[in-house]
This record gives sequence, C-alpha cells and structure tokens, in this order.
Amino acid sequence: MVKAIIAPSILASNFANLGCDCHRMYDSGADWLHVDVMDGNFVPNISLGPPIISSLRQEIPKSTTKASFFDCHMMVAEPEKWVEEVAKAGGDQYTFHYEATSDPVALVKLIKQHGMKAACAVKPGTSVDVLYPLAEYLDMALVMTVEPGFGGQKFMPEMMPKVAALRAKFPNMNIQVDGGLGKETIPAAAAAGANVIVAGTSVFKAEDPAQMISLLRSTVQDSLTEKGLLDK
Ligand code: DX5
Ligand code: ZN
Repeated sequence: MVKAIIAPSILASNFANLGCDCHRMYDSGADWLHVDVMDGNFVPNISLGPPIISSLRQEIPKSTTKASFFDCHMMVAEPEKWVEEVAKAGGDQYTFHYEATSDPVALVKLIKQHGMKAACAVKPGTSVDVLYPLAEYLDMALVMTVEPGFGGQKFMPEMMPKVAALRAKFPNMNIQVDGGLGKETIPAAAAAGANVIVAGTSVFKAEDPAQMISLLRSTVQDSLTEKGLLDK
C-alpha cells in the first residue's frame, strides 16, 4: 500500500522569491518539495546546493503537523561527498543516481546513518534491473522520465514499462517519476503505478497550482485504488 505524493520541483520557481514560492506550494497542497541539486559535472547544469537548502529549512522548519518534507534529488558526481552537508542543511530524503556511485548499498547506509531516507534514481538509459537488488534497502526508487539537468523537457512515455515492472515486483514501494509530468502525461504515469509525482513547470506555471496538484493527486489515487494499492 502506498500514498499519492505530489512533489513540486523548485527548479521551476523564481529563485529570487524562493521562500515565498515554497510556502505557496505547501499552501497549495504539496506533500513534499522536490529540491534539484546539480553540480555541473554529473549533469550539464548548476542549480543550488546545501546553503540554499539550509536557508529554506529556516524558512520552513521541520514539522509533524504541516508539510515540510525536502526531497533532495542529487544530480551530482560523488554523491557520497554531500550526505553530511545535506543532512545538516535539513534534507529529509537523499536521492542519489545509480550511475554516479560504485557502491550503492554503502551509500544507502551512509544516508541512513545521517538520519535521512534513501532513494536511488536511474537515468533514461539505465536499466531498471539495477534497482531490484537494492530495493530492500531503499525508501524510494526514482525513474527519470527526462534526461536529468533541465526543467521543462518532454516526458518520455517509453520509461513507463520500467515503472510498471517495479510496481509489479514492489507493491509497497514509493516509486517516483520526474520530468515532464502534467495534465497530459499524468494518466500514463499513474497507470504504470507511479505514486510520487515530481512536477515543476506544470505546477509552477499553472494559473491555479492548487488545482493542478489536486488533479495530479486524484489521477494517482484513482489508479492506486484500481490496483488495490491506495493507502488512505
Ligand atoms: C530535471 C529535474 C526535474 C525537473 C522537472 O533534471 O530532475 O526535477 O525540475 O521539471 P519539469 O516538471 O518542468 O519537467
Ligand atoms: Zn528532479
């Protein structure tokens, strides 16, 4: 059983208004904030790092009554290097890329030792099979639906068999999709079994972000209900 979790990607926010934009997302019903960390090495772009996560955490303190979860997507080489910093800055979950590490199990242990949840992402060209032996250690798997590095790209429907294969094997696992998710593409992702939806452009550029978040959530919930997997 899993919940529908909607995670707006702050890469699509106006960085000059980051704090306000984050409050706006939680006020609009976001469950998590998706924080895209890019190092200009693992991906051909640079976004933000621990100092900004730390400022955001001061703006949005950890809370058990209000949504405040920071889902940190680490598009970085040597992901081992940043675990301590991201934990100190206030990250709740640390998603590393399978392609960036030679010892994913040791990395998961390090992340957990630092009090964060651990997740592993695969780029479009990486087989989903690599996640199977890791699944028992993970809190979440991320199937990228664009090449990591930039917001606003086109969703790759050909990634959906990966999601479906994961869901068939792991009915209780958080499975995230990231890249190009919105009104047109959410039905395919939900049908494949994704329950954690990252959405940057579609939510931030929506006239009514609350309505977009609610549409994404209800589409996922309907699919999970059909599969008998919805944890209410
Ligand atoms: C891409 C990032 C995504 C991105 C999604 O490298 O990992 O999280 O912000 O943005 P949209 O929803 O605009 O594709
Ligand atoms: Zn991301």
